[in-house]
Amino acid sequence: MDPEAIANGSTATLGQAAQRSLAVFPAGSNGEFNLPKELTTVLSRGKDCYVWDVNGKRYLDFSMGWGTNLVGHAREEVVAAVTEQAANGSNFAYVNEKSLQLAEEIKRLSPAVEYLRFCSSGTEAIMYCERLARAFTGRSKVLKFEGAYHGANEIGVTSLFPKGLLDYPTPDPSSAGIEHSVKDHVLVAPYNDLGMTTKIVEQHKDDLAVVIVEPLHRCTPPMDGFLQGLRELTKKHGVLLIFDEVVTGFRLAYGGAQEYYGVIPDLVGYGKALGGGYPIGVFGGRADIMSIVNEDLLGKDKRYVWTASSLGCNTISASAALAALQIYHRTDTYKHLHHIGRYVRNKMKGCLEKNDIPGHVIGDGPLAQVLFTEKLVYNYREQKLQENAARRRAMMVGLFKRGVFLNPMGTKLYLSLKHTEEVCDQFVEIFNQTLQEIKQNEKSTTTN
Ligand SMILES: Cc1ncc(COP(=O)(O)O)c(C=O)c1O
Repeated sequence: MDPEAIANGSTATLGQAAQRSLAVFPAGSNGEFNLPKELTTVLSRGKDCYVWDVNGKRYLDFSMGWGTNLVGHAREEVVAAVTEQAANGSNFAYVNEKSLQLAEEIKRLSPAVEYLRFCSSGTEAIMYCERLARAFTGRSKVLKFEGAYHGANEIGVTSLFPKGLLDYPTPDPSSAGIEHSVKDHVLVAPYNDLGMTTKIVEQHKDDLAVVIVEPLHRCTPPMDGFLQGLRELTKKHGVLLIFDEVVTGFRLAYGGAQEYYGVIPDLVGYGKALGGGYPIGVFGGRADIMSIVNEDLLGKDKRYVWTASSLGCNTISASAALAALQIYHRTDTYKHLHHIGRYVRNKMKGCLEKNDIPGHVIGDGPLAQVLFTEKLVYNYREQKLQENAARRRAMMVGLFKRGVFLNPMGTKLYLSLKHTEEVCDQFVEIFNQTLQEIKQNEKSTTTN
């Protein structure tokens, strides 16, 4: 790419594929990448922890399909399982051998799951958990934590990026088109603040169906006692607790955040890494709650909950998931994932110190995120108030230009079983160069 064209924001010299992408996708994106237009990219293939664009440029992938490819791109065992199944039919929209086997294994590994059903995405899985909680309790309100993402549905995006810092528990839609359905029904609390959460729960307990939490909130770990406190608080008031394990499931431990933090919710949603790179969603939990999806109740029990998914237990995703689970089940999987995450976080922290740039590297397991804040922060609002957002953006664009592929919003890194120390060293070198560039640019802006 011509540097002058980048500086001018011109798209005239973009490659053909990028031009075609801009002609059919708004912003040349399928909703996944908030890049400057002139960096519009079209990918063609992936292997292990690398992706290539249509021009043959290789990127070091730290998005890994937003964490869906925890096993690595085009992992041989997954490819073999999918290929074998493809010849025997991809979807019957009915319980099949593969989905049954997978369901049995999920029930075995997930402490909360007595019954489960499949769908095709994390969004659907969490949406069903929320619907079940409302139907089971007969209450309408859902409490979520500010800055949490639970999928692209109405509740999922509420207060994801609040425009202002509203008084808790007032929700901010964060997307047009949804305000009417969330403003009276979603309560918002600060993550890691059990005191404030308790106050809100107690005030709304008669209408509150459920508290939903990402146990590891984006990349922010729970403070000691926070998840246990939520469990006790919800139990005390007959409010249900959902763990959104779309990210943490199979990533922090084979039994996900429930096993890792030792807290068991009433309902849980999975997706992402479970599918080994193929579309999947699972919602499950206590038998008494899950039983209200039984179709025999339709028209007979007012608690009956509609769930359905054309592709929800398709044999291809189930085969990919079974292959992925076999890999996760190996003894060294979580040793590697935790080691490599710690390794990259420590090295990145070293770079910040070396360059004298205030910041912190947070995360757990194979997840890392750099925060350009003076102090360590424990929730969205503290981050928002302190963070140097211009540096975050400069970091994302700088890394991308140097061949590091990232997930949106830039600084959350998904590592995989294919990320080695050597790969992380290459990344850290680029991270360091980018920090130097940011410092240099900031200096010349101040001097000018
Ligand atoms: C915590 C969490 N929940 C739910 C979702 C939605 O999953 P999907 O994109 O598969 O619909 C995501 C996606 O990033 C997520 O991070």
